[in-house]
Amino acid sequence: MSNGHILITRQLTDAAMQAAGELGRELVVGGEQPPDRSWLLEAARGASAVVCTLTEQIDAELLDAAGSDLRVVANVAVGYDNVDTAAAKERGVVVSNTPGVLDAATADLTMALLLGLSRRVTEGDRFLRAGTSWIWGPRMFVGTDVSAGCTLGVVGYGRIGKAVARRALAFDMDVLAHSPSLPTSGEDGSGVSYTDLPTLLRLADIVTLHVPLTEDTRHLIAAEGLRAMKRDALLINTARGGVVDTEALVAALRAGEIGGAALDVFEDEPNVDPRLLEFDNVVLTPHIASAGRATRDRMGTLAVDNVAAVLDGEEALTPVNAGG
Ligand code: GLV
Repeated sequence: MSNGHILITRQLTDAAMQAAGELGRELVVGGEQPPDRSWLLEAARGASAVVCTLTEQIDAELLDAAGSDLRVVANVAVGYDNVDTAAAKERGVVVSNTPGVLDAATADLTMALLLGLSRRVTEGDRFLRAGTSWIWGPRMFVGTDVSAGCTLGVVGYGRIGKAVARRALAFDMDVLAHSPSLPTSGEDGSGVSYTDLPTLLRLADIVTLHVPLTEDTRHLIAAEGLRAMKRDALLINTARGGVVDTEALVAALRAGEIGGAALDVFEDEPNVDPRLLEFDNVVLTPHIASAGRATRDRMGTLAVDNVAAVLDGEEALTPVNAGG
């Protein structure tokens, strides 16, 4: 590979590819699917910038394969657990992500999962598609009311958690929030009450996760936390699969310790633990929380704008580290 090119590991949306083209630099672009590791290592050689997605592991090996021309890794995602930021920092490489532009889309999918699970939408859809004979009945497909009297627990009260809370308040839900950086009592002024995690898990009818995956949050929700939840409480995860201990979740669902789960993310993506498919009270989507058209355009163009800034000798717009 020639020196100084921009490696874009996968085809982004048309708007983002156009923005990349307008940088006027040589581009090396992967395909629709995640690239093979060997292709990636070769394509990175001599790159000045890598625009990547969460399916690529950007580790010391990859950074070394790129070599000393590499200035910036722009992840097309707000989460960046796929990037070894410490290794990048050691090599003076800036890492950026795409915060802000996907809050609404992620909060919207969270509400879709929340409503789909609580009001048994996907279960009802499967029921009808199976050709089951039915007639309206007062006890038929009764689910959780999502309105006044329903308490939502938001774990991780950053931009996305707040966007979810705003939506829940519009549904008249009571909202509890917990983040390690927040006080564990008091209110945020919009009617959201802060609390500690055990209290949130104990009181919430629906728990929704919006923390990044770090060593501190891996398996944040495991057997003990699931047992602390109400027996009919619902768990929503649109953050990262590793935040929930899947083994413990399957056990809790089997034992009826919680009322159900809706998952957009999985511990071993793209593999979905087949045991999760057993449950009617589990809703599954394939990591699509940010998959709104305009959102995906904004994510891609923000990554490209980060590359442009760094290659022009300016600060990245949305850096996650200082790059050395
Ligand atoms: C998607 O999962 C993201 O982190 O943006």
